Amino acid sequence: MARKFFVGGNWKCNGTLESVSKLVDTLNAGAIVSTDIVEVVVAPPFIHLPLVKDRLRKEIQVSAQNCWVKKGGAYTGEVSAEQLVDLGIPYVILGHSERRHIMKESHDFVGQKCAYALSKGLKVIACIGETLEEREAGDTIKVCAEQLTAIKEAIGENWSEVVVAYEPVWAIGTGKVATPEQAEEVHAELRKWLAENVSAEVAEATRILYGGSVTAGNCKELAKKPNVDGFLVGGAALKPEFIDIINSAQSKVAA
Ligand code: PGA
Repeated sequence: MARKFFVGGNWKCNGTLESVSKLVDTLNAGAIVSTDIVEVVVAPPFIHLPLVKDRLRKEIQVSAQNCWVKKGGAYTGEVSAEQLVDLGIPYVILGHSERRHIMKESHDFVGQKCAYALSKGLKVIACIGETLEEREAGDTIKVCAEQLTAIKEAIGENWSEVVVAYEPVWAIGTGKVATPEQAEEVHAELRKWLAENVSAEVAEATRILYGGSVTAGNCKELAKKPNVDGFLVGGAALKPEFIDIINSAQSKVAA
């Protein structure tokens, strides 16, 4: 079974009412390839979710960038999985490196968040990736495996609604993109990890996205790699070139 190409746009903590409205207009006007060959998701900040969900073309789905680890209640400043479901939001990004490193979310905490979000019916874009120091120490796969292990311990065999995003920390927002060969090497190892630690079926079916300085200029070569099933895009997701990144699904089909 072929894995459907997936392109996610992570808008992070950016945007005003005016700029978000303009970005929605740009995405609505762009010529995008058929959703038969690509699944597209954008993740605005919580505060803009209702506007984007209402106004964005229906071929593009909407995701949150985070959610609380359990049922809502007295957790000031948090947003629960239930609230996202209530709003009709299908996806949530969890374990983004900015949350792991700046907000100090641990591997276990991210795993628990994945389990809770899945239990409420959200689909999860689970992010993993190593720092430059870890890569230089030769620990890339070890670190990614630790992050995946914590997710597996929390969710078990239940990976059908999980998309994995491999995002090397050194490539995020730095303009230093992994080469297609570097991305492919890690993605192949991650798929092997899934086969050995979850199941061959899950390894075959799970989409593994690359994230970190993806642009219209570098996406096509990355997309051609057999284990690169799409992208999670930050900076370029705020620009019209996001349309070109969506359309790199065609390079996948042609490869
Ligand atoms: P970037 O961010 O594309 O700006 O490097 C990617 C991400 O953080 O998901």
